[in-house]
Amino acid sequence: MLEQNELEELRNRLKQEFSGYYEKSGGKNYRYHHLESTRKHVIEIMDFDVVDRDEVDEKVVEISSLFHDIGRKEDIEDGVMDPFEGHEGHAGRGAKVVADFVSDFLEESKVEKVETIVGNHHSQPETPEGKIVQDADLLTNYGVSDLWRMIHYSSEEQRSMPEAFEYFWDNHMPRYLDKLEEFHFEASRRWARKRITKHQEAIKNMESEFHAEDR
Ligand SMILES: [Fe+2]
Ligand SMILES: [Fe+2]
Repeated sequence: MLEQNELEELRNRLKQEFSGYYEKSGGKNYRYHHLESTRKHVIEIMDFDVVDRDEVDEKVVEISSLFHDIGRKEDIEDGVMDPFEGHEGHAGRGAKVVADFVSDFLEESKVEKVETIVGNHHSQPETPEGKIVQDADLLTNYGVSDLWRMIHYSSEEQRSMPEAFEYFWDNHMPRYLDKLEEFHFEASRRWARKRITKHQEAIKNMESEFHAEDR
């Protein structure tokens, strides 16, 4: 695990890359907050003991989670980033630059592990560490907190509130269900399912209030 002073320094480096910009359907400095949230998720996933703790290098996992989307820094243009543009390339771009940010915190062989995890985070992870990071990244899309992005995205697309609800049931929800298959660990999948239930409840509550059916 990272020491508090190491974590602070790494956070500062990330903040330098992902501050003072606006991310479409994510808001101000979204990527920084997503990376910090992914780090919190990897800690919880490791706590489920999904893999033998002696098999994983927790520091490698934590650092990879913080920097997995570092390639996205190149997608910020004039203070704005569209997360749907440049998506294909950001893992590979990140693998090339991540050492510049983390090599003074890890020995060389471990920096290489981080590069591999970052490079594979949208394809097939090769190691237990990579699987943990991938599950954590996926989990950050699940749950009531994703309403934040739904509302931002609806606003970008100039959708009405009923259109946003319809889009949720017809597009978002099937995608959340499909993506359950992508989890590597049952514990992460269970967690995502729990969030789906809460998310559906939240949308149903919004809709019933909107139609004055909640009296
Ligand atoms: Fe990514
Ligand atoms: Fe991510």
